[in-house]
Amino acid sequence: MGFPQRRLRRLRRTPALRRLVAEARLSVDDLVAPLFVREGLAEPVPIPSMPGQFQHSVSSVVTEAKRLASVGVPGLVLFAVPEQKDPTGSGAWDPDAVAQRALSALQGAVGGTLVVMADLCLDEYTDHGHCGVLAADGTVDNDATIELYGRVAVAQANAGADVVAPSGMMDGQVAAIRHALDEAGHHEVAILAYAAKYASALYGPFRDAVEVSIASGGDRRAYQQDVANRREAEAEVALDIAEGADMVMIKPALSSLDVIAEVRRTVDVPVAAYQVSGEYAMVKAAAERGWIDGPAVAVEQLTAIKRAGADFILTYFAAEMAEYIGG
Ligand code: PBG
Repeated sequence: MGFPQRRLRRLRRTPALRRLVAEARLSVDDLVAPLFVREGLAEPVPIPSMPGQFQHSVSSVVTEAKRLASVGVPGLVLFAVPEQKDPTGSGAWDPDAVAQRALSALQGAVGGTLVVMADLCLDEYTDHGHCGVLAADGTVDNDATIELYGRVAVAQANAGADVVAPSGMMDGQVAAIRHALDEAGHHEVAILAYAAKYASALYGPFRDAVEVSIASGGDRRAYQQDVANRREAEAEVALDIAEGADMVMIKPALSSLDVIAEVRRTVDVPVAAYQVSGEYAMVKAAAERGWIDGPAVAVEQLTAIKRAGADFILTYFAAEMAEYIGG
């Protein structure tokens, strides 16, 4: 009587019906856990702005990776915090750096079960905190920087990384890294390109985690993307794939759902999204105050990121979600 024939509520009636008709599913198979290793630690140190996350020692990062494997998480991405920084970030390609020691320990311990990825950037290693080396005028020198990224990629591959993930947003970085890896015989090592990475205020907690501050109140707006732009993000993705990226990533996730959807529609490589530190911290902080149900909000946001088109998600919720949603 006045109702349309098709009543959409019919298929929402029971949990089983809803399960059957769900279009997007969040699975533990979609999750990659970012982990931090810090040089010179005997014990893991909690990161205050990222409740539940730690700066790890080499031995505790391996323990954490084994826990991830045991709950079914299929990948991790490693960030490292060195003791020493210098203008060129030379610690990044030191074969004995804590990053490389941890990669090799991780590959040995969990390499058969987890994909071991290495974030590839210089900001943790430069004394000025930028993602590259500086030219005389104080700007980041693109071409000098990508040459160094090639060295870092080879050091990470030598240490056992399955995937390197360049996050510096330099032009030509994927081509330079692919070339360096191939020259060194690392044809099998894949590149996950941080292809569309916005200059975001949501990276704040991460910078606490890796102890990076940018010299003289600087920012990354001269190399990371302006949040206003989507077509430019598509151009970044297209260039990275043309340069040899095996997978592309978009970040932050929740503020880029339109970009994720468009990229998933237009490219044929796996598309990842990074739910970044600020996205994690906001959920944790509100949950701690009892203002929201933290795990429920995390599932909702991660499912929306899947619905937008992400094939997998880098998220600090990986271990927690694996336990919450089941393997
Ligand atoms: C740069 C890098 C950053 C993040 C990943 N790689 C920080 C930045 O660009 O300043 C942010 C990740 C997060 O916030 O969780 N090496």
